[in-house]
Amino acid sequence: MGYHKPALLHESIDGLYIKPKGSYVDLTFGGGGHSLEVLKKLGKNGRLVVFDQDQDAFANVPDDKRLIFVGANFRYLKHYLRYHAIEKVDGILADLGISSHQIDQPERGFSFKSDAALDMRMDVRSKRTASQLLNEAPREELVRIFKSYGELGNAFALSTAILAAREEAGIETTGDLEGVLKRFIPKHQPSKFLARVYQALRIEVNREMEALREMLVQTAGCLKPGGRLVVITYHSIEDRIVKNYMRSGNLEGEIEKDFYGNIQSPWKLVNRSVITPSEEEIKENNRARSAKLRIAERTEL
Ligand SMILES: C[S@@+](CC[C@H](N)C(=O)[O-])C[C@H]1O[C@@H](n2cnc3c(N)ncnc32)[C@H](O)[C@@H]1O
Repeated sequence: MGYHKPALLHESIDGLYIKPKGSYVDLTFGGGGHSLEVLKKLGKNGRLVVFDQDQDAFANVPDDKRLIFVGANFRYLKHYLRYHAIEKVDGILADLGISSHQIDQPERGFSFKSDAALDMRMDVRSKRTASQLLNEAPREELVRIFKSYGELGNAFALSTAILAAREEAGIETTGDLEGVLKRFIPKHQPSKFLARVYQALRIEVNREMEALREMLVQTAGCLKPGGRLVVITYHSIEDRIVKNYMRSGNLEGEIEKDFYGNIQSPWKLVNRSVITPSEEEIKENNRARSAKLRIAERTEL
């Protein structure tokens, strides 16, 4: 099995509008599927900086002088570009979420399909595992996580069951969690319910929405005029954050206009409506089914 099959590969690479001598950033290197396509389009003087907070991704880095690997969270985008003496780049790509490799490694605890410790950290240097979250978080936090990241209607009841279970014995493994969830698992589409619970925990453990917001607000300052920001999301909240930011240049999505009514934004939308995978792509790669691609171009402000 491969490390990861890239989603919306051609659409996102076309969106970057690669110039052979340009400098590009892949914020989510993973198996390097997108990066490899960028490298194919770059000339010998082109440059590609890649980020991944998961040290496993380093094994996929090709021996290529044009590429720099940064083993850190992309929330430090600006810092690492400065560290590598790169002032501004021509394109930034982010393919958010987790890779198939992370899900398929039982010991990482991302999957309800195998019994393992509930870890779920993409960056194993970070402090809080999913098991710590489940055993320590106050009820309100659990309710918020299940409601907003898992879109689960019974978030309160789930949290009550977790609180009761952790008083008796800790919730350490995927098996422990399944025991707690057992009475909530619907007969119809049980995997869909479990996937939502796991997704919610993973998003919180990795503070994915915070990292996305922190990264996005740095992108305008890191791109040259005409440079492209290309983002693939897999969750409705992520997509809303990206959509608002690309429309307005701020996270609130508040559109500012000048005296003449012209929109004041560092971005021009390249695709008015969101790009989604074709039926064929979904057939070949089921994990691409929720992918949504948005592309914006840095204006001359
Ligand atoms: C969907 S995969 C990317 C797959 C990649 N495009 C490919 O073609 O193989 C997402 C990757 O981004 C990494 N990642 C997610 N959030 C990150 C963050 N905040 N900072 C750095 N890396 C992150 C994950 O560890 C994972 O390897």
